Amino acid sequence: MKNRRLFFALWPTDAVRALLAATAQAHGALGRVIAAGNLHVTAVFLGAVPEARVAGVRESAQSVQKLTFGGKFMLHLERIEFWRRSHLLCLTAQRTPPELLSIVDGLRAGLRERGFELRDQETFRPHVTLVRDVARGPSAAAVAPVRWAVESFVLVESQVGQRGSQYTVLDEWPLV
Ligand code: 2AM
Repeated sequence: MKNRRLFFALWPTDAVRALLAATAQAHGALGRVIAAGNLHVTAVFLGAVPEARVAGVRESAQSVQKLTFGGKFMLHLERIEFWRRSHLLCLTAQRTPPELLSIVDGLRAGLRERGFELRDQETFRPHVTLVRDVARGPSAAAVAPVRWAVESFVLVESQVGQRGSQYTVLDEWPLV
């Protein structure tokens, strides 16, 4: 049976995407800049999911949407960090909005209830990967905050091709 590589994410609006892309370009000398269309915040990474279990993934999202503490929120991304172990340059948030934590925890719980194994992602830190393959990066530095009004979360499929990862948004759940 076919597997699909899936993850839940926050997907930027065009205006936020433009700001993120500019920040990535500004650090382009450090490594491989992520294509503007691929910039996002991963909420929960699932990895390979058999086609027959994709319905269960969607159900987990619906149950989160019904949480009382899952409304719209502001995400302020305001710090550039070099993650040495993964060779990434990321834009991170100093403070994780409680609404976002509630979405991530709710998704994880819903997915585990449905038998999905989620490994290596106990501590959630919201970040946008800007540049990959960074051998040596700057020390952490504050930058002008990107202010992102988050109004939904999405389910994304990643297809790895010759020209890097191609992401397709499969579904979107508005935060109400
Ligand atoms: P990254 O940006 O921190 O590398 C699609 O691959 C998205 O899922 C990327 O944003 C990536 O995060 C994240 N991802 C890939 N593999 C992962 C893993 N094993 N655990 C957590 N997140 C992962």
